Amino acid sequence: MRIGLLTGGGDCPGLNAVIRAVVLRGTREWGHEFIGYLDGWKGPLENLTTELDVDRVRGILAQGGTILGSSRTNPEAVDGGIEAVIENVRGAGIDGLVAIGGDDTLGVARVLTDRGLGVIGVPKTIDNDLNATDYTFGFDTAVNIVMDSLDRLRTTGASHHRALVVEVMGRHAGWIALHGGMAGGADLILVPEEKFDLEQVCERVEAAFSAGVAPLIVASEGAMPLEGRELTAAEGTDAFGHIRLGGIAKWLAEQIEEKTGRETRSVVLGHLQRGGTPTAFDRVLATRLGYRAVEAATAGDWGNMTTLRGTSIELAPLADAVDESKIVPPERLREADNGYPG
Ligand code: F6P
Repeated sequence: MRIGLLTGGGDCPGLNAVIRAVVLRGTREWGHEFIGYLDGWKGPLENLTTELDVDRVRGILAQGGTILGSSRTNPEAVDGGIEAVIENVRGAGIDGLVAIGGDDTLGVARVLTDRGLGVIGVPKTIDNDLNATDYTFGFDTAVNIVMDSLDRLRTTGASHHRALVVEVMGRHAGWIALHGGMAGGADLILVPEEKFDLEQVCERVEAAFSAGVAPLIVASEGAMPLEGRELTAAEGTDAFGHIRLGGIAKWLAEQIEEKTGRETRSVVLGHLQRGGTPTAFDRVLATRLGYRAVEAATAGDWGNMTTLRGTSIELAPLADAVDESKIVPPERLREADNGYPG
């Protein structure tokens, strides 16, 4: 069997662990051949390929990023794009694809499967907002980076009696803010799922200072005040129609300082959350998802993605992942509210 592999969307730690697992198991157990497509859906769209065999995947388990490169290319946004992908993949004698990506990449995978090209999906996103899987790999690494940053910011904030607002990734889902904030003992966590009241934020800041604590506030990039909408860092949208978010921490720090008179600084963690070596949890999860994905491809279970359910790796229809995203439920936010301040 000949199988094409690609990684699409924003990169995250653990992508290489999936590629490695697919190639190692597929080669050793079934004698499959693999072709790497470069830069997400751009690869099959423009026939950009690279060799992918056991030698190529040796030593990449701990490596961040993706050896295949990634992009947010959307073949559906290109005239005749879907047809071109199908023609190129079939022309290369490839039986099917393993596509590693988030809802955008898997949405394209679903369209291709509906059009008769076999694709198995492997869910990834640091945002952890994909339905049909309990966790996506990359998330745990991002959360650990946020936690480590909060530990560091806590001491400098306390030394200078400053409030600190930390902006983390998460456009429509606040999982990174919630888990990173809980792990780092944040005094307030602001997520896109619940608009925040600026007055209440300022009251919390004051209460924390009164109790002798320099407050740490974690805000998802998509967090919004009651009256207002998300802040953008750039004009326009990407090929999947997403605006580029950014600026909430700076805005909030200015507002807090103005309204409370307390010195307040902002920090944007940005792409630091997506870089570097994956945690043990992400390496194991990515490896298990890849191991199962190549088994699904071998069995011709196209149109599915591998998922984590509890501690088991299972298959779920691609549609389950892309139709709706997984957002933070209100009760999870309540758990993170430790009564403040302190
Ligand atoms: O989708 C993952 C993600 O990291 C989001 O959290 C973030 O908003 C976005 O990607 C950033 O994308 P880019 O690297 O293309 O600016």
